[in-house]
Amino acid sequence: MGNTVNVKKPRPVNLDLQTIRFPVTAIASILHRVSGVITFISVGILLWLLSLSLSSINGFQTAADIVDSFFVKFVLWGIMTALFYHIVGGIRHIIMDMGYFEEIESGNQSAIVSFAITGVLSVIAGVLVW
Ligand code: HEM
Repeated sequence: MGNTVNVKKPRPVNLDLQTIRFPVTAIASILHRVSGVITFISVGILLWLLSLSLSSINGFQTAADIVDSFFVKFVLWGIMTALFYHIVGGIRHIIMDMGYFEEIESGNQSAIVSFAITGVLSVIAGVLVW
């Protein structure tokens, strides 16, 4: 038949997940989206904490007690790390929008640099939180 599409045509299939490697730029991209969503959710949490701390002397004490637990500090550190990555990755995006680092090699390098800068900022965030 003239217009029949043969859907049974054998296509290359790779179900062995161990052999699939994402390019570093793909990882940078998905992390930027994830960190944007985390930042968005964090705005609510942080505004609630700020409003609690400003509500009264007792409210401030309650907020200080909440932030005193290891788990909450860990979450705050995670929030700060996500925000830092989002800012650093965002600046990388803006630089790329201006026409730089658009080739595969320079794109890979700028992704790795953005990870490294975030790593340093994340350590600083940890020092600030603890
Ligand atoms: C409250 C603060 C922020 C929130 C909640 C937020 C959230 C988001 C979200 C959800 C996205 C969409 C991601 C996607 O579709 O893949 C995004 C994209 C973006 N954000 Fe943010 N963001 C914030 C602050 C910033 C800051 C400070 C920068 C500065 C560099 C920035 C730079 C960007 C850029 C350049 C994009 C577009 C990335 C692309 O084209 O794929 N963002 N943001």
